[in-house]
Amino acid sequence: MIQLYRITKYYEGIPALREVSFSVEKGEFVFVTGPSGAGKSTLLKILFCAEHADEGQIIIQGMNTFRLTSSSIPYLRRNMGFVFQDYKLLPHKTVFENIALALKVVGAPYGEIQRRAYQVLKKVGMDSKMHLTPPKLSGGEQQRVAVARALVNEPLVLLADEPTGNLDPQSGQDVFRLFRDINMKGTTVIVATHDWETVRKMQRRIITMERGRVTDDGRQVGKRIEKQEQRAVITKQP
Ligand SMILES: Nc1ncnc2c1ncn2[C@@H]1O[C@H](COP(=O)(O)OP(=O)(O)OP(=O)(O)O)[C@@H](O)[C@H]1O
Ligand SMILES: [Mg+2]
Repeated sequence: MIQLYRITKYYEGIPALREVSFSVEKGEFVFVTGPSGAGKSTLLKILFCAEHADEGQIIIQGMNTFRLTSSSIPYLRRNMGFVFQDYKLLPHKTVFENIALALKVVGAPYGEIQRRAYQVLKKVGMDSKMHLTPPKLSGGEQQRVAVARALVNEPLVLLADEPTGNLDPQSGQDVFRLFRDINMKGTTVIVATHDWETVRKMQRRIITMERGRVTDDGRQVGKRIEKQEQRAVITKQP
């Protein structure tokens, strides 16, 4: 579903990503972790086509993103939800309008917009504040609205950048529970997070980054073990 091959990205001549390669299967749940500045946000933004890679290849849903014209990016994004590290909510629209807009752009009918926006806000516990604008909310409340906006279209791919960074442990767990539920329904989920406690608990694939490189990939470790096992079987044969 998502394949990256030797992705390199420079900011002002300095590499933020260096030859990053991995693939994510449809329906997988993947954590991306690593210290501040490792390149996690840059990686997710490239997957969302919000940034361009300088070198390498990316294939998302069968499309090579290097060949995409800017007019086809919105089509790709229709199937994606993104929780930005800094939320990126529209400050002059209410919470409800922020969510409704995500449904409007995919052409949902009015009644459905009303119903689904309300439902998703209830799920993140923000239904009682849906008529406020984001600047009137706390950081954690804004974060929950950003999560709701990313989930409301039931996207094929959910990309979330530190989605629990501003939440107390209970609200953070609630958000990860929502991610797990949507993942069980088939959505591929990629989450960048420092939240080690949750990462350990969820027992999913973990990609670790340092200084723009992938330094560990839980699945590769799994594959290595598989290969070792295969070799052991082969050498055992007469
Ligand atoms: N727009 C930009 N202009 C210049 N440098 C940038 C830009 N965005 C990111 N960088 C640099 O790229 C590197 C990776 O940044 P990135 O935001 O991807 O890290 P991160 O792993 O998400 O960190 P954090 O955990 O703090 O969110 C950093 O050194 C950062 O300074
Ligand atoms: Mg980041």
